[in-house]
Amino acid sequence: MLYIGVDLGTSAVKLLLMEGNGTIRNIVSKEYELYFPHPGWSEQKPEDWWNAVLSGIKELTEGFDKSEVAGISFGGQMHGLVILDRDDNVIRPAILWNDGRTTKECDYLNNVIGKDKLSEYTANISFTGFTAPKILWVKNNEPENFAKIDKIMLPKDYIAYKLSGSFCTDVSDASGMLLFDVKNKTWSDEMCEICSVKKSQLAKIYESYEIVGTLKKDVACELGLSESVKIVAGAGDNAAAAVGTGTVGDGMCNISLGTSGTIFISSEKFGVDANNKLHSFAHADGHFHLMGCMLSAASCNKWWMDEIIGTKDYASEQKAIEKLGENHVFFLPYLMGERAPHNDPLARATFIGMTMDTTRADMTQAVLEGVAFGLRDSLEVARSLGINISRTKICGGGAKSPLWKKIIANVMNLKVDVIESEEGPGYGGAILAAVACGEYASVEEACAKLVKIVDTVEPEPELVAKYEERYQKFVKIYPALKDIFPELN
Ligand code: XUL
Repeated sequence: MLYIGVDLGTSAVKLLLMEGNGTIRNIVSKEYELYFPHPGWSEQKPEDWWNAVLSGIKELTEGFDKSEVAGISFGGQMHGLVILDRDDNVIRPAILWNDGRTTKECDYLNNVIGKDKLSEYTANISFTGFTAPKILWVKNNEPENFAKIDKIMLPKDYIAYKLSGSFCTDVSDASGMLLFDVKNKTWSDEMCEICSVKKSQLAKIYESYEIVGTLKKDVACELGLSESVKIVAGAGDNAAAAVGTGTVGDGMCNISLGTSGTIFISSEKFGVDANNKLHSFAHADGHFHLMGCMLSAASCNKWWMDEIIGTKDYASEQKAIEKLGENHVFFLPYLMGERAPHNDPLARATFIGMTMDTTRADMTQAVLEGVAFGLRDSLEVARSLGINISRTKICGGGAKSPLWKKIIANVMNLKVDVIESEEGPGYGGAILAAVACGEYASVEEACAKLVKIVDTVEPEPELVAKYEERYQKFVKIYPALKDIFPELN
């Protein structure tokens, strides 16, 4: 049988067609617009996602026996607020995970309601990108839209709804809403009350590998697929990527270098760090995970290459980098503010340390290193909790660069395992569909059989020492600039 994994990302939707034995038969990508209506705001149109998914599935399955398609599942950009009215019209553009408009609402939640209460109710505190503060923002700033809300959805769940008519979400994605009691895997009464949300406005919760419905008749007809195709809950993109890289069970680590950058640590037991610097979320394998998320990762390099240097030839730019560990330039990667560990939407990106002999290659190197240092910040929080990690998987667009993988391995002092397929969330989505349709008994069994490590990048002691010295300088830069950032906005 064939399974479709839908990776509903920020710059594009990537669709992947997988055989039951894990072989990838086809991949299709469809881009859509990202809107920045004000500095620090970030929106997309759910209708654009839907059109891209429809045309993407048609292209993906062209030339294949469509009757073989048994299931569709997802890895979706997390936290985005999609609101529908009583007639299922989208009320306003979706407010995305990297949108920073909710500073006031976060202050209210974290400081008036209190971080300890939020942590007790949800296992997390408020970050500007999370869904609950966005609901409060709509209530405070667009009361006419707030009054119309009938359904509150996450991005991938809007697609599942359009495909199947099932108003559903999964535990991993629900975890990022700040309305979900992660430990008990249920909506939090207290948070609903605080955010003026009715339970009827929230979706039914599933485990990521559970079936939520089948294709609607008209959609099946349009796609040329059978009405019996199963729609499977799926996961937030990071949990789906973790499945796609085999980061399941206890104490495994995955780094995703996408638009955002994340470090994801799987755990069989529920746990929270004392300061809630890392997110404590449910995992797509039925257990839990901790995660640090930086808002700009591969997007820093894309911005530097596309917008500033003006090239698409990333590999040539990286070839000019000669002295790893010896750069005098530093880059703070906070182009959209920062989530973990600073929780500072007003933080901004900075180059510092240039001299007259600084080269373009030094600056490019600083960008790649700055993202690695940002990820290390979250790893340090995990280390401070006694979590001992010696290796990680890696995925996302940035993971295509051998140089970046080497920088990550040495900055973090981790062995970096490279997986046969870098298609983290799409592959994870397809695996979740295969598990739900009975090809495998569990997500862990599927990962053990399907995910193959093809290479390992080893940290080199001399380079690790050089990067240790540089990291100790990097950590001093943000505190020194922190108070200036609000004045720049
Ligand atoms: C995770 C997060 C991002 C988005 C990117 O908390 O906000 O990784 O999911 O799509």
